[in-house]
Amino acid sequence: MKKILVTGGAGYIGIHICLLLLEQEFDVVIVDSLTNSNENSIKRLFDYKNKNFDIKNSTLQFYKGDIRDLEFLRKVFLESRNSGNSIDNVIHLAGLKSVSQSIDFPGKYWEVNVYGTLQILKVMEEFECKNFVFSSSATIYSQMQESPLNENAQISPINPYGKTKATVEEILKDFSKNKKQFWNFISLRYFNPVGAHPSGMFGEDPIGIPNNLFPYICQVGSARRDTLSIFGNNWPTNDGTCIRDYIHIMDLADGHIAALNFLNGEIDKVGSFIAVNLGTGVGTSVLELVEIFEKVNKLKINTHFTSRRLGDKAVVYANPEMAHKVLNWTSKRNIEDMCRDAWNWQLKNPSGY
Ligand code: NAD
Ligand code: UD1
Repeated sequence: MKKILVTGGAGYIGIHICLLLLEQEFDVVIVDSLTNSNENSIKRLFDYKNKNFDIKNSTLQFYKGDIRDLEFLRKVFLESRNSGNSIDNVIHLAGLKSVSQSIDFPGKYWEVNVYGTLQILKVMEEFECKNFVFSSSATIYSQMQESPLNENAQISPINPYGKTKATVEEILKDFSKNKKQFWNFISLRYFNPVGAHPSGMFGEDPIGIPNNLFPYICQVGSARRDTLSIFGNNWPTNDGTCIRDYIHIMDLADGHIAALNFLNGEIDKVGSFIAVNLGTGVGTSVLELVEIFEKVNKLKINTHFTSRRLGDKAVVYANPEMAHKVLNWTSKRNIEDMCRDAWNWQLKNPSGY
């Protein structure tokens, strides 16, 4: 049985990945400081596992702690080794992700996202764990590049958050060239992960006022907020609003299983680094999204236009060919599924976890 360490496993993306890992009978170890998540997500995961016959064969452990704390990380790896089932893969999601906060507190972002990653790599080296899946972002691509974006598009992030992600990719590339160590790295560049687990038990639970579009729409739908500000109606798109590549959270989670299968597959990848987009290749404008959300969920979302948001780009969507070719992965769920599942989560959990 493979044992996977998921850093940041209590967060939005992490909890959905852990769920899928358990279903597929991987043993899962979660490390999370809970700085941007809620322990109830972990409790629900334990609950889900205990009630669900299919996932009784896999084990789940949770350690509360910080990825910058090397001694803590050593303890996590050592306990697994002593149990006779060592951690052999890491999915590294722990990190800070707000673009605006990264401008206000750049030091914190470099420390958690870059130094934190170096600590994980250090402990992995000590415990001879070589397979590493990294959460990167489409935000690292240059603003000048036209969509669809493929993995060879120019990398030129414009904010500290994006710079920390691009820097980690550079670190992974350098490590992969060290032929004494034999690392296997895959960096997954997410487009816009949205939606929730279809059960309505897991979903996105932002602290405070949401920065991102989907949770904001959900909170307007449930009357927690009055109206959605649409950032600009004069973009060079059909309806004047920005276009993004929204990807269902369960498709994104599937992409991580595909990445693990790739890293642990038959082909010998000693000393490799690969970057792969996780997107659908379909662009949807803000107005189209609001309209679909209203139609699928039979409700009205109040909107008004405001000025453009600093740092936004008119059109961003993926070329997802590489994921198909290398990982044998393609997205399966459409925008309707994303809208339905996000709203189901919102209805069942009006105040989050
Ligand atoms: P999230 O904030 O919900 O999850 C991140 C988790 O990491 C949280 O549970 C948080 O408590 C934990 N964490 C933060 N700092 C930590 C530390 N020092 N030690 C231990 N745990 C720590 O975010 P998410 O949306 O689930 O994103 C997960 C990863 O994916 C992040 O690295 C993010 O940058 C990346 N990503 C997210 C998106 C997105 O749209 N959500 C897009 C691209 C990339
Ligand atoms: C943002 C981040 C990106 C990060 C991603 C996922 C910026 C500039 N980019 O991407 O780095 O990887 O989130 O966390 O912050 N919108 C509105 N009203 C709102 C919110 C959003 O009109 O209240 C619009 C935005 O202008 C954008 C679209 O909706 O066109 C999607 O926005 P959002 O969900 O924040 O994602 P991105 O901007 O693509």
